Order: sequence, then C-alpha cells, then structure tokens
Amino acid sequence: MTIHYDPFSPEVRANPFPHYAQLRKEAPVHQLPGGLWTLSRYEECSFALRSPHLFSSSGTRLMMMGGLQSGMTADEETLREERRRTHRELGLESLLDSEEGWNENSLISLDPPQHDVVRNIVNRGFTPRQIQRLEPRIHEIAERVIDDILERGEELDLTSDFSTPLPLQVMAELLGVDPSHADDFQRWSEIVISGITGSVAVEGPETLLLTLQELATYFLEVVEDRRKNPRDDLISLLVAAEESDTLSAVETVNFATLLLAAGNETTTHLIDNAVLTLLEHPEQHEQVLADPSLVPAWVEETLRYEGPVQLAFRQATEDIEIGGHTIPEGDIAITLFGSANRDDQVFSDGERYDIHRDTQGHMGFGFGVHYCLGASLARLEATIALEALITRLPSLRRTEAELERFDSFLVRGPSSLPLRYDR
Ligand code: HEM
Repeated sequence: MTIHYDPFSPEVRANPFPHYAQLRKEAPVHQLPGGLWTLSRYEECSFALRSPHLFSSSGTRLMMMGGLQSGMTADEETLREERRRTHRELGLESLLDSEEGWNENSLISLDPPQHDVVRNIVNRGFTPRQIQRLEPRIHEIAERVIDDILERGEELDLTSDFSTPLPLQVMAELLGVDPSHADDFQRWSEIVISGITGSVAVEGPETLLLTLQELATYFLEVVEDRRKNPRDDLISLLVAAEESDTLSAVETVNFATLLLAAGNETTTHLIDNAVLTLLEHPEQHEQVLADPSLVPAWVEETLRYEGPVQLAFRQATEDIEIGGHTIPEGDIAITLFGSANRDDQVFSDGERYDIHRDTQGHMGFGFGVHYCLGASLARLEATIALEALITRLPSLRRTEAELERFDSFLVRGPSSLPLRYDR
C-alpha cells in the first residue's frame, strides 16, 4: 500500500495513529517525498535518540529556525541569512542577529559535550527539592482556577479555563515573571510555539520575530535586575551561574525562551488529552473517579498513548545504516515518539488505552540525553490538576461541539475542549 504520511498535513495531524501503524508495519525506516526520513518503531527511535553522535540535535535547531516546516530541508546558513534580511525589513536591531542569538545555542539543539555543560547548570533549577517547593503553590493555583470555573456556570472550555492558565502561572512563578506581565507571558508562549510549529510558521516569521524581540528585551531586563537583586527564582539561580562564567546573559534569555516554548503548551495538552481520552473510556473513567490514587497511572498512560509531543528532528552526522537503509549525512530523521509509544513489541496491544498497564520506557518525554528537563514538574502539575478536577467536578462530560485541534505539527492536543458538568 502507498504511504501517505505527511506530518505537516492537517488530515494526518487530526489522527496520525493509523499512519504510524502502517509505517511501523511496512516501512519502519522511510523517506518522505520531500526528503525527510521517519523512524516509527521503538527500536530505531531509541537507537537514534541514544546516539547523539550520529543523530544530532542540529535537526531541532533547523526546525526552530523554520527550516523543515514545508517538509523540505534548508541549510542553516541560508536560514540565518533569511532571518537577518527579515530583521532588517522589520527594523529589528537585536541580539537575535548575533551569532549567539536566539535559539542558536539553545539546550535542546546542542549535542554532547556542550549539551552536558549547559544541562548541568540548568539542572540546578530542577532538582527534586526545587520542584517539591512548588507543590503547595500548584495546589493553590489549581483550586483557584476551579473556583473561577464554578463561578461562571455549568459549562467550561477546559483548555482556556483550566489547562492553559495553570501551567502558565506555574511557569511565570518558576521564572519569577512579574504578575503584571502575565498577559504578555501567555501571548509570548502561544506565539512562540505556534510560530515555530504551526501553519503561521509556513506563512511568515514576522510576528514570531517581533515577539522574540519583545520577550528577549523583557528577560534581559529581568537578568539585569536579578544580578543586582537576587530573588528566590530560576532566573536568579541562572544568573548566579552566569557569575561563575558558565551561562551568558543571552544564554539565560535563550533558556527562559525555551522553557516558555517547551513547558506551557505541552503541559496544557497533557491535561486536555488525559481528560479527553478518559472520557472516551467510560469504564476506566469510573475507576479513576472511584479511586483517585489512579491519577498518576492515568497521566503516564496518556503520555504514552496520546502524548503532547509527537516527534523530534535529528540530523545525520554521517551516512547511517539503519533498518536496511542508508540515511545520508546531513539528512533529517523524524523520531516519531507517538508511534514508538504504540509499538506492540514494547507495549503489548499498544493501540489500547489502559491505565493499568506498565508504561515503563515510554517516550512521552523523549529519550536519551534530551529527556525532558521538566518531566517531574509536568507530572506533578498534571497530577495535581487532574486530581483537583475529578474531585471538584466529577460529572465533567463532553458537549456536542466538534473538537478542534491545536495548530502544530509537533504538539498534539485540542485548541479548545468544551465540557459540561452538574453543580
Ligand atoms: C507534559 C508536558 C511535557 C512534555 C510532553 C514534554 C516533552 C518533552 C520532550 C519529548 C522533550 C525531548 C525533545 C527532544 O528530544 O528533542 C523535551 C525536552 C525538554 N523539555 Fe519538556 N515536556 C513537557 C513539559 C516540560 C516542562 C514543564 C518543562 C520546563 C519547565 C520542560 C522543559 C524541557 C526542556 C528544557 C527540554 C530540553 C532538554 C534538553 O535538551 O536537554 N518540558 N520535553
């Protein structure tokens, strides 16, 4: 059968799973018409992700620079030149133009050994103790957001009323963003992720570049301020690292930007996908309502079955023999987490949603050296959020409204999730 998988098409994005199943069965290592390769089985994905010397995260950098969105690959120099030209046209004179400018050296696009150096520094902000400290605040935020929902009546949009504000507020607190910038923070977060991974990425980069400029200006001010007046927040911690000559101001801004893109929409969609999927499985829904200690297992199975991050890009550093094919040096391979997570070889009856299964080894948070830095925070947020939701709004159910999907080839989840409940 002909393979029609195209990660950028709306039809595939609406339901990529039959395509993944076909790829795993018929073409585990496959080259798409534009030249990109796909790795759809657990075995090849995990090999690529634990071999950064062969599969470089320069693939992520190309994606972040807008070089892969049309399914064709462009080289970094051409992209950088294009971006400089757009900057000039927009009248932007900024750090974005500099060699160490935005996202060039972002943690997520570095390979070892540089990656290890940066990761060791930023890890300081994500120790179990640092994350645990946030727990009481996450509870408070979840309760307050639900209070607001209850005030408004018996209908809600889970995405905009609950799953979006919660991670945004947690992230703003983690970074130490002034509450007066809460609206800006939400806007920046949305534009960064949709500007890089949505259709606007294909249409034109102007809004994205203007937004990046705006948030870089803001975070540079925060860096300056925290140098003089350290607080109990992540930026202060990173600025302290900077003083020992390890993270520059621009790198600190890059990292804050990465967190904005990597930590908000992802957590939003984990909460949404968890609710959406459980509502489609009434028996398991009953079980969770009867026993909230099942919530962590519900979160984990959702990460496996309907993970918010479906794929990642890697670039071949040499000709690579894999699965009977040769991926030539410089080509881009897509590691399909969402497909590897349903591979029967690893997860028996992988297409079945089962909160009681063993999910060990799932790739919902990636795999290897770039394994999600925020995984424990995301798990904590989702667990607290979902526990609060099923306890205080146990009768939540879908309305007849059709589901609309968030516009992104990378992040999977609804753009709005209308629900109803009884008081
Ligand atoms: C459910 C929520 C989340 C999901 C599904 C998720 C998923 C992922 C995945 C798949 C990767 C690996 C990307 C790659 O290999 O190229 C990753 C990396 C990363 N994530 Fe998350 N993430 C989530 C939440 C968060 C949060 C809350 C934060 C921060 C507060 C965060 C920060 C990061 C960072 C900094 C990286 C890059 C790590 C590195 O390159 O070493 N993520 N995430």
